Amino acid sequence: MSTMAKLKHVLVIPSPAQGHVTPLLKLSHCIADYGVKVTFVNTESIHAQVMAANPGLDDESRRIKFVAIPDGLETDEERRDSTKMVDSVLRVMPGHLQELLEQVKQQSKGNEDEQINFVIADLTAGWVLEVAERMGIERAGFWPASVSTLALTLNIPKLIEDGVIDNKGCALKNDLITISKDLPPYKSNDLTWSCPQDPTMQKDFFRCTSAIPGYSKHSTSVLCNSFHELEASACSVIPGALPIGPLIVSASLFHLRGSLWSEDATCLNWLDQHPAQSVIYVAFGSTTVFSQEQFYELALSLEQIGRPFLWVVRPDLTDGPVTEFHDRFLQRVRNYGKVVQWAPQEEVLAHPSVACFFTHCGWNSTLEALSNGVPLLCRPYFGDQFLDRSLICDVWRVGLGVVSDENGVTRRHEVRTKILAVLGSDEIRANCLRLKEMARKSVGKGGSSLKNLQGFIKDMIA
Ligand code: UDX
Repeated sequence: MSTMAKLKHVLVIPSPAQGHVTPLLKLSHCIADYGVKVTFVNTESIHAQVMAANPGLDDESRRIKFVAIPDGLETDEERRDSTKMVDSVLRVMPGHLQELLEQVKQQSKGNEDEQINFVIADLTAGWVLEVAERMGIERAGFWPASVSTLALTLNIPKLIEDGVIDNKGCALKNDLITISKDLPPYKSNDLTWSCPQDPTMQKDFFRCTSAIPGYSKHSTSVLCNSFHELEASACSVIPGALPIGPLIVSASLFHLRGSLWSEDATCLNWLDQHPAQSVIYVAFGSTTVFSQEQFYELALSLEQIGRPFLWVVRPDLTDGPVTEFHDRFLQRVRNYGKVVQWAPQEEVLAHPSVACFFTHCGWNSTLEALSNGVPLLCRPYFGDQFLDRSLICDVWRVGLGVVSDENGVTRRHEVRTKILAVLGSDEIRANCLRLKEMARKSVGKGGSSLKNLQGFIKDMIA
């Protein structure tokens, strides 16, 4: 990698969640490859979890310095309460960040190389950009979801003004939502702050999402974890959007992606023992919570399909205890099913034995599947996952959605029918292979995302 004339020290801050930490840590590795010094700031709670799950991360990754600041809650306080969490973050974190930046400035007096002279902030934590601007530090935003989601988000003030949504984010009509003649319309139930099963969370989500258009004004560019060829029309309507994805790190850095749970690599050996394209991979990201009923139904679906499956069951996946059921289930499926608490997902999706991915459509999971040409079965739960499902099923046609009953439970007949349909579809497989090729090209030599990233870093260190 090239070294540059003038050293830069970049501070990178994600929102405190796995789906935000992972892509920004990958971006940090890409930036560090150019000899730029990176300080990565997590909340104390996320920092402790990342360090516990990845022993030695701090030593091994000397090129990135990990720093923690408080989020304002006690160590053992419940962080799933979205209202408490959002209030606390906004109340205390801007002050702590400013203190950190001032402290580094003091300590690095006389040593220009140490001074933080650029900040990259998750737009979902856009208050960071305000702090950086106030302190006269150059900055860029980062968007961890699809560019289509960003386009909708940046149009929130106009949607309210035009009476398309109310000031709580609820759609006022059931029509398609058009934000630009250059962009296909959005479905009114794909609003990216939707949390159908939790109205309080939806309120908090909208509060945070509707602040983003204001935050985005504090930076001229927004790095997006997507690629131009995938979302060309959405990219065209956002001045300053710079698609640099899918963000990848070299295999030697795989273990430095900042998982919040220890990865159970035994599933890779288990996959080795299966024929090509035979295994159904099932994982719903880091935050999805199932009702007990949904958990039982999904387990019974997988049992009855009878094909090999690998299922990620996080310790906090369900809203009630399921241990007894789960133990009996594991006994019954032991010859063809493997369950882990947290998988090395990118390696799993790259494994030739994987036939399809039953997913919640989180953006990182979506991109990881696309980059590996894996067909998708979609069951979104909240936020941008609904729009991602529409992109997957209706626009790129690389997967199918499942429907749920009136209790929000996807029944076993539905899962079985759709999994078999995905596995049997030549059209879906062909589209997957086409997108995989496009994704690889975009980050390969001369590719659109690589050029954008190189241009950004060149400008940053100029
Ligand atoms: C959240 C939102 O749900 C998502 O829609 C948004 O775009 C980002 O923030 P999350 O629910 O965690 O993220 O989903 P996703 O975006 O898919 O990120 C999950 C990450 O965890 C992926 O990078 C995936 O590879 C990783 N993962 C998941 C593992 O490493 N192991 C697992 O077992 C499961």
